Amino acid sequence: MIEEKLTTADFLKTDIDDTLRPQSFADFIGQNKVKGNIKVFVEAANIRKSTLDHTLLYGPPGLGKTTLAKIISNELGKIIKITSAPAIEKQGDLMAILTTLDEGDILFIDEIHRLKKVLEEILYSAMEDFKVDIVIGEGTGARTLRLAVPHFTLIGATTRVGSITGPLRSRFGIIERLDFYDTESIKRILERSSGILKVNINPEGITEVAKRSRGTPRIANRLLKRISDFCLVEKKNLIDKEFADYALLQLEVDEKGLDAMDRKILKIIIDHYEGGPVGVSAIAAAVSEEAETIEDVYEPFLIQQGFLKRGPRGRMASSAAYEHMGYPCKKEESLFQ
Ligand SMILES: Nc1ncnc2c1ncn2[C@@H]1O[C@H](COP(=O)(O)OP(=O)(O)OP(=O)(O)O)[C@@H](O)[C@H]1O
Ligand SMILES: [Mg+2]
Repeated sequence: MIEEKLTTADFLKTDIDDTLRPQSFADFIGQNKVKGNIKVFVEAANIRKSTLDHTLLYGPPGLGKTTLAKIISNELGKIIKITSAPAIEKQGDLMAILTTLDEGDILFIDEIHRLKKVLEEILYSAMEDFKVDIVIGEGTGARTLRLAVPHFTLIGATTRVGSITGPLRSRFGIIERLDFYDTESIKRILERSSGILKVNINPEGITEVAKRSRGTPRIANRLLKRISDFCLVEKKNLIDKEFADYALLQLEVDEKGLDAMDRKILKIIIDHYEGGPVGVSAIAAAVSEEAETIEDVYEPFLIQQGFLKRGPRGRMASSAAYEHMGYPCKKEESLFQ
């Protein structure tokens, strides 16, 4: 039997259902700056009776990009058509999507940094001029056909804004970055979720789960569900701090919210590379994970928590990482020497 352990990357892949997804700005907790801005732009579009400018939402996985896109469509009273860049393979696929849009529709393209170059060029003119040129035939018989596209709003989402080309980025009128949530916001999200899921958890229990949710609503919700599974099976009727502690230990989530993979990454940098610097591909090979997953899922949180530093020569474990992992103190050295 092959035993597979679920990692944070698995946790972050999908949401099992939409029951916990906020449907309106009022339900969307935290991210006040981003929410406030988008609310204004949506309201202005509603007053003007015009379409919302193309919008790019970026940030680590599970922070609410898809949720915000759906809320925007709800608040504009528009239809949202959802796709993701890897699903659009050919020119024909993109044309089919663009030409079936109705006036005012929202087109949501997830993982937009993965859109192929040739398709990006089609998208440029669709976004800017609401026209697309398609080439029919080949060689001397080739003709260009210009088709009109209805006025639509493109909402792009990505975890890696750095991989988006300049020309594409410049065609978004609204660009907003989602960052990790503070513990207070995660607490409120957990309160809301436990109400919806009818999970009996007290404030101390909520605080404990919130502190260990990596500032990420999706992880907070998952942990709540898994802890409530333990609670059910072990016939407890309340999740308090002690029970949350116990269940999180079973789930291998430590007191800082680091999971087995986070700790493996730090351990490898410390044990095998004397704390670094080491390239991400070497780390990825050592922990049998894709480099892209390390960069998108694990690194942002480890960096935000001050356990990892990124420099021109690679990744380094900080002295906080040494301490957290139970190693003797590290002699700090500059990344830029
Ligand atoms: N501000 C919020 N308030 C309450 N719940 C939230 C909030 N943001 C996200 N969530 C919850 O977290 C889940 C994950 O959010 P979402 O799917 O929007 O993340 P994402 O940024 O699109 O992630 P990915 O990059 O993986 O696509 C949602 O299903 C929702 O239940
Ligand atoms: Mg998403």
